[in-house]
Amino acid sequence: MAESRRVLGIVFGGASVEHTISIRSARAVIAAADPERWRVIPFAVSRSGLWLTPEESNLALTGIEMGGPEEIADPPSRRSARILPATSAALMQCGAVFPLIHGASGEDGVLQGFLETLDIAYVGSGVAASALAMDKARCKQILRGIGIPVAPGIVVSCNEWLSDPTAVVRRAAEVGYPYFVKPSRGGSSIGAGRVDSREEAAEALAAAFACDSEVLIEEAMPSPREIECGVLGSLNGQPPLVSPLGEIRTQRAFYDYVAKYEDPGTELIAPTQLDPEVAEQLQQAAILAWDAVGAEGMVRADFLVGTDGSFWLGELNTIPGFTSASMYPLLFEANGFPLTDLIDRLVDLGIERRADQAASRRGLERETQP
Ligand SMILES: Nc1ncnc2c1ncn2[C@@H]1O[C@H](COP(=O)(O)OP(=O)(O)O)[C@@H](O)[C@H]1O
Ligand SMILES: [Mg+2]
Repeated sequence: MAESRRVLGIVFGGASVEHTISIRSARAVIAAADPERWRVIPFAVSRSGLWLTPEESNLALTGIEMGGPEEIADPPSRRSARILPATSAALMQCGAVFPLIHGASGEDGVLQGFLETLDIAYVGSGVAASALAMDKARCKQILRGIGIPVAPGIVVSCNEWLSDPTAVVRRAAEVGYPYFVKPSRGGSSIGAGRVDSREEAAEALAAAFACDSEVLIEEAMPSPREIECGVLGSLNGQPPLVSPLGEIRTQRAFYDYVAKYEDPGTELIAPTQLDPEVAEQLQQAAILAWDAVGAEGMVRADFLVGTDGSFWLGELNTIPGFTSASMYPLLFEANGFPLTDLIDRLVDLGIERRADQAASRRGLERETQP
């Protein structure tokens, strides 16, 4: 009998600090993908950017399942070839690919551009929306422009910092203490820190500039609630769906790296209780932001909400975590989308986009025929 299932490639691992989370996300998606619809092929990527073959990827996953370290090691026989011909041939067989690499090279448009070049359908936002959402400085400029509240602050370049650090510390002081410093294209709170006085400024700025050549210096919201909202695309050009709101509660000074990945005291509440009027404003802002950056497939919008109900949109994540304890799938599960159905919807959206692109290319060809 002919195989009626489509091949779904799952790309995971990668260079970012969220390497381990990516592996967990991939394992959750592989376990939940409907076996009647999808034949899943894993594509593991090591921290140095080497793509393992599907066979090597399966071996790596088996090792992890058997209790080995959650880490994609470089294949021992290979030093430089990033992707072998056999791996790209397997990739070309995929009916769709689900990119699950968070952060740099996976969530910032680079992987999306690679898949576009190969003309493979893929889940999630395209090149431009991915790049824009990753770049907090530019993304906030756009959000501010359409009236979505974002933290007031300034953006400083590495050149300015290197040529006159005292002037940068002085400009930062004008934002007002305490302020937050963070890399524009960062994640996982790496290089992000709160500055309470002038004495702390230089160290925090140096840490942020170690991660990116542009740094945001923002007014700090006092005692914010960390509220997250999912947006999911709809087929046939219908408006996207917005999830109920979720909340992260941490006992630490802010939602830093330790709170995210190490502190067992961090609580995730999905869905959470919020004043209904504020909740609706957040959901509307998430949809407006989705439209403004041209997001597709899925987005998790993260907000900071003040004690008076005012809020700032902090960031848009175009490849949110998909582990069994991740906010985005939990919020949609609460909204009637078990992970298996969520995966179906996301992959179908990627396939629909590629078909639409092909149809518009054909239309253009017809128009330009003599
Ligand atoms: N302006 C701010 N006011 C208060 N807390 C902030 C501010 N900016 C960032 N934070 C804290 O730092 C965390 C990480 O910042 P965020 O901008 O989300 O970067 P990342 O992409 O690293 O998650 C937030 O979840 C929040 O706890
Ligand atoms: Mg964040």
